[in-house]
Amino acid sequence: MIDVEDLVRLDAIDGRAYTDADLYRLELEKIFTNGWVFVGHESEVPNAGDFVTRRLGHDPVIMVRDRAARIHVVANRCAHRGVSLVQGRAGNVGSFQCIFHGWTYGHDGTLKGMPQPGGLAVAREDCSLDRPGRVASHRGFVFANQSGTAGTLADHLGPGGTELLDWVCDLSPTGQVDLSAGWLGQEATSNWKMWAESDLDGYHLGSLHASLWRAVPGSQYEAAVLAGESKVTATTRDRGRGHIELEFWRGYDRPLAWLGVTRERVADYVDALTEAHGSERAEELLWRGPPHALIFPNLFLGEMNLAIIDPTAVDRTVHYHTPLLLGGVSTSFNQRILRQSEAAMGPAGFLLPDDAAAAERLQIAFGHSGGWMDLSRGRNREQIDERGDRVGHVSDEVPVRGFWRHWHEMMVAP
Ligand SMILES: [Fe+2]
Repeated sequence: MIDVEDLVRLDAIDGRAYTDADLYRLELEKIFTNGWVFVGHESEVPNAGDFVTRRLGHDPVIMVRDRAARIHVVANRCAHRGVSLVQGRAGNVGSFQCIFHGWTYGHDGTLKGMPQPGGLAVAREDCSLDRPGRVASHRGFVFANQSGTAGTLADHLGPGGTELLDWVCDLSPTGQVDLSAGWLGQEATSNWKMWAESDLDGYHLGSLHASLWRAVPGSQYEAAVLAGESKVTATTRDRGRGHIELEFWRGYDRPLAWLGVTRERVADYVDALTEAHGSERAEELLWRGPPHALIFPNLFLGEMNLAIIDPTAVDRTVHYHTPLLLGGVSTSFNQRILRQSEAAMGPAGFLLPDDAAAAERLQIAFGHSGGWMDLSRGRNREQIDERGDRVGHVSDEVPVRGFWRHWHEMMVAP
């Protein structure tokens, strides 16, 4: 087994961190079992019996709403002989019934019944579905900690992560986001960490994504990222606990640049946001738009999209994304968000195919022996601000170093 300490320097990573299968098993335990993982949003399951299927590391779970409107996360595995209860990404059921022997469970995972119960030789109350050790939510964002040993969700999110989720929800005049449009998954033959890194890399936009700027000139990213190293005012932020951010908004040249419209075009939204939050907060939100950040380890707040990073093998990852639709806005407003999502994300979008190409080429390039990769960019100008966050130029590797700092902390934890 590779020693974790041999892989991570302050500003360089050994490539075996992406390719070593034993290390990957250790990540599943230390990060995806012992830590908090994003599961889903309550708006995905609006009605009683609605469910979505997710994974905590490799453990399949079901997030479901019961008849009293409570959300449960239960193992997608029959307590009898271990067959999965539901297939597919989403659905609606009155109860969960195993196809193998017909055992039936309520939405909360309690055993309801079975054929020929006279032969049951264990206590009935021991036959409920397994549940994660802890499940908690913030503003409808549901997280689970499989081991139950990770402390509270509030500890995991910290002020930095909590503020990011509040920011996302506050973009809606009703404070509600609507993640019910469905998730599109894109699979790549790369390690999961490369997706966390490339989603939060402000340096590659001008190079890897150059075709986007040629095809769609005049986007908000030109002022924020492409104006030249000494001209751009966009920044990077390490909020601690692995929660990291690209602050494109500091480089925008106008309010609503992120939506590509003038305030007159969306006057109803401007009015509703001002009514909801007061003009100071509303103007701040109209300028900033949604955050571009990672909630460690698997939730990417990708501006008008949210993404789940789902590792399936040491060299295989599915990047699921869904548009960030808002409650309390017009249908045409949300359709605009959906169109932006289609253009940017997915295997036929402008961004993710480029990112997948880089991620897969990294995976190939490190082979099995590894070799150092450099993460030092911006170490010479990184600062700690009044909040205690590390901040830097938008092209600096501040976020990626923050990701690895927290990764290392979790991997060496007892
Ligand atoms: Fe990218």
